[in-house]
This record gives sequence, structure tokens and C-alpha cells, in this order.
Amino acid sequence: MAETKTVKFIITRQDTPESAPYEEEFEVPYRPNMNVISALMEIRRNPVNTKGQKTTPVTWEMNCLEEVCGACSMVINGKPRQSCSALVDKLEQPIRLAPMKTFPVIRDLQIDRSRMFDALKKVKAWIPIDGTYDLGPGPRMPETKRQWAYELSKCMTCGVCLEACPNVNSKSNFIGPQPLSQVRLFNAHPTGAMNKAERLEAIMGDGGLSNCGNSQNCVQSCPKGIPLTTSIAALNRETTFQAFRNFFGSDHV
Ligand code: SF4
Ligand code: FES
Repeated sequence: MAETKTVKFIITRQDTPESAPYEEEFEVPYRPNMNVISALMEIRRNPVNTKGQKTTPVTWEMNCLEEVCGACSMVINGKPRQSCSALVDKLEQPIRLAPMKTFPVIRDLQIDRSRMFDALKKVKAWIPIDGTYDLGPGPRMPETKRQWAYELSKCMTCGVCLEACPNVNSKSNFIGPQPLSQVRLFNAHPTGAMNKAERLEAIMGDGGLSNCGNSQNCVQSCPKGIPLTTSIAALNRETTFQAFRNFFGSDHV
């Protein structure tokens, strides 16, 4: 009888946010073009480990399945990335899966990304229009500016840049590169610029820009190619001007 080809996974699991992590090995039948999520679905369908013991299904998060929502991020063979776009054929085996360590684990590979969403609230990463009546079309942006703003807007809050940054960890309150780059995006918008000073001040304090150690890991890890370090450099200039404005006073935003 022909031998069935299998794929071996070593998964770091954790039953509750407080419990200790442990590793469990699984072997799933190989299918051409399978991705990490399809293998996790197979484990969920038949949760039996390599020792032949029935176990609990592995938990993870996913949504779009096309590298747009960022929910399925995890550490795959030591590298933080999206599991929906991680093709088994391109990975060295055994494939090791672990949760991103920058965020608290909820269960297994599922993490709590609140740290990043709270930082976006702190820096007011939105344009405050209340939507109670039709404001008509917004102000136009020059095409070249719109094009680079579009690049920044591709962020999917996956958290990979926070995971790659050595200064974002449980001992630091650094908000990390992702919320900083969003400040640059929203400040560049003609309507968003109304709150520019507020956003800059939010990143001038503790946990903000000055906590960046310029390791450059973020820009190398971002799956969307967002120029995070360029954003940080631009914000350094902006916050310097803002500090002068605060000190000397100015009517100009
Ligand atoms: S900036 Fe890039 S790596 Fe960071 S959260 Fe956004 S998409 Fe993910
Ligand atoms: S499921 Fe949305 S990025 Fe992978």
C-alpha cells in the first residue's frame, strides 16, 4: 500500500491565559497547496496528537483568509507572519507554530491584541466626523500625497511589527511602530489635520516616540511594506515643531 505523505507540526499550546505553555505534536495528511490554516482546520476536525492521544482542538483566530484582516498572525518557524498566506510547501518541516509573545495569550495560538487597539485610541487614529448629516465630498488631496497615504492605510493591525520590535514588551509601555505610523496617516488627511496637535502630543509623552530604539526591525517585518521608519522619522520632525509651538505659542496648526 502506498505510504500517505504527512506534514508534521509542533504547536505551542496554552489552555488558559494563566496556565503554562506546552508543546504538542501533530501529523496531518499532506495536500498540494495547503496553507497553515488548512492544516489547523484538519487538526480541529481530528484532534489526535502524534502519540495517538485524543486532545483538545487547537484554537487560533482568522477572518479574511487573504492577508487583509491580520487576525491570523502567529510565529511560524520563528517568524511572525500570517498563517493564511503561509504555504506548507514553502516551509521547513517540522513546522513550528507559536503565539506572538508581545500579546497576552487567550488560548493556544489566539492572542489578545488590545494593546495595539488601545494605543490607536490613545493617539486618536480616526477622523472625527459624526455622520449625522451629509457633509458632501471631503477636501481633495494632491495625487502624489494620496498615493503615499494609501500605502500607510494598508495597515491591517496584524501586530507583526510590534512583535518584531525589541522595545515593545510586557515591561514597556511603548505603543510601537503601528500606531505611530497611523498618526502620520491621519495627520496628513486634510480633515484629519484638525486634530494634528492632539495626536502629536499623545505621542510626545511616556510610551511614545522617544521609546523607539531605531532597531529597524519593524519596517523589515511588515507584510504590507509600510515605510514605518520613514513615518517615525517624519514624526520626530513634527513633534519637534510641536514642542516649539507649545513653548512659544502659535495660531497655526
Ligand atoms: S504596520 Fe505592518 S506589521 Fe505593523 S500592524 Fe500594520 S500591517 Fe502589521
Ligand atoms: S485570516 Fe485575515 S490575514 Fe489571515
